Amino acid sequence: MTKRIGSTKWVVLFAVVSAFLLVMAFRDNLGLNRSANAQDGAAAGAKKTQEGNPEKEEKSAALSKFMRQKLHASNQILEGLCTEDLTMVQEGAKVMTRMSHEERWRVSSDMMYRRYSNEFIAAVDELEKDAEANDLNKASLAWVNVTMKCLKCHEWVRNTVIAEK
Ligand code: HEC
Repeated sequence: MTKRIGSTKWVVLFAVVSAFLLVMAFRDNLGLNRSANAQDGAAAGAKKTQEGNPEKEEKSAALSKFMRQKLHASNQILEGLCTEDLTMVQEGAKVMTRMSHEERWRVSSDMMYRRYSNEFIAAVDELEKDAEANDLNKASLAWVNVTMKCLKCHEWVRNTVIAEK
């Protein structure tokens, strides 16, 4: 590690800003359950996309809520990086790891979905490790990497859903 303070600040700033932009970009582009984005009316969003299939409706609403929790953990991580509170980063990463092991996370047993999922989990692990080591520099870059995994999976989901229609 070179000069800690000065250069670290810039890397963090860069990481934080780009992560924020990425999150915003995918939120707008995801296009799934779009109406749920307006407020936390996840159920309403699900209804719109899956009318006439109550079971699927319920599942989709739950998944949407689940993904929103992940967004909340993302904010926690981002805030931790901004305020140099790496304990907060660790906590957010732990929430994400826990969530990714839940049944609800396994939306699809498709090989590609599993691969994206595993890559995401590995990226979160790395973030947690860097935060644990109290390395702001590395944790910031690890966070950008995690965000990229969010986007990659969403891109895949979007294309697959469209292709299946
Ligand atoms: C392995 C795949 C995968 C990864 C990784 C992933 N997601 Fe998702 N995400 C999905 C799927 C599938 C949906 C569609 C759920 C639905 O029908 O609303 C989704 C939807 C979302 C939504 C929209 C929910 C709504 O209200 O419609 C948000 C927000 C979201 N994800 C946040 C995140 C964040 C933040 C990350 C990374 C920290 C992330 N996701 C990583 C699979 C993934």
